Amino acid sequence: MNRIAYACVAAFSLVGLSAAIAQTDPIAQRKQLMKSVGGATRDPGQMMQGRQAFDLAKVKASLEIYVDAAGKMSGLYPAGTETGGETTASPKIWQTKADFDARFAKFGADSKAALAAITDEASFKTEFPKVAQNCGSCHEVYRVERK
Ligand code: HEC
Repeated sequence: MNRIAYACVAAFSLVGLSAAIAQTDPIAQRKQLMKSVGGATRDPGQMMQGRQAFDLAKVKASLEIYVDAAGKMSGLYPAGTETGGETTASPKIWQTKADFDARFAKFGADSKAALAAITDEASFKTEFPKVAQNCGSCHEVYRVERK
């Protein structure tokens, strides 16, 4: 193998390796999932504030992302991931894990209920805040400022 071809292969396997690490790193995974939840909140948030026109399809797409994330989140806090990877997870998660897990179950259940209940702008305005209050109430207890 000539040197250039070898360098290419080496570079590709490095890219593959870091992707594999990201997939098995629970801190990176939960941060990525929460980022997608944050991103999915942008449109409905603006609709709540009247800064964007109500769009049922967009609202449902966001709620589907919540349901998916809520189902995956609890499994991404194994022992040994309390620190590192710029996590903002509070140590309290590992002290009261059952309560933390229950909050994700509630977030998922509320998102599912909203998927069924939201059919128009009026129902969106009453139902969406019930889902969104889960974000702040969990962060208040289980998230810390990055040191
Ligand atoms: C049951 C708890 C819980 C709920 C519900 C929850 N979060 Fe989070 N969120 C967390 C925790 C814990 C972290 C810190 C994760 C880490 O850094 O390891 C986090 C981190 C985040 C982050 C930062 C991600 C990053 O590292 O860049 C964003 C953005 C976010 N959440 C948005 C939301 C929004 C929006 C909602 C509601 C639609 C929500 N979260 C609901 C627990 C929750």
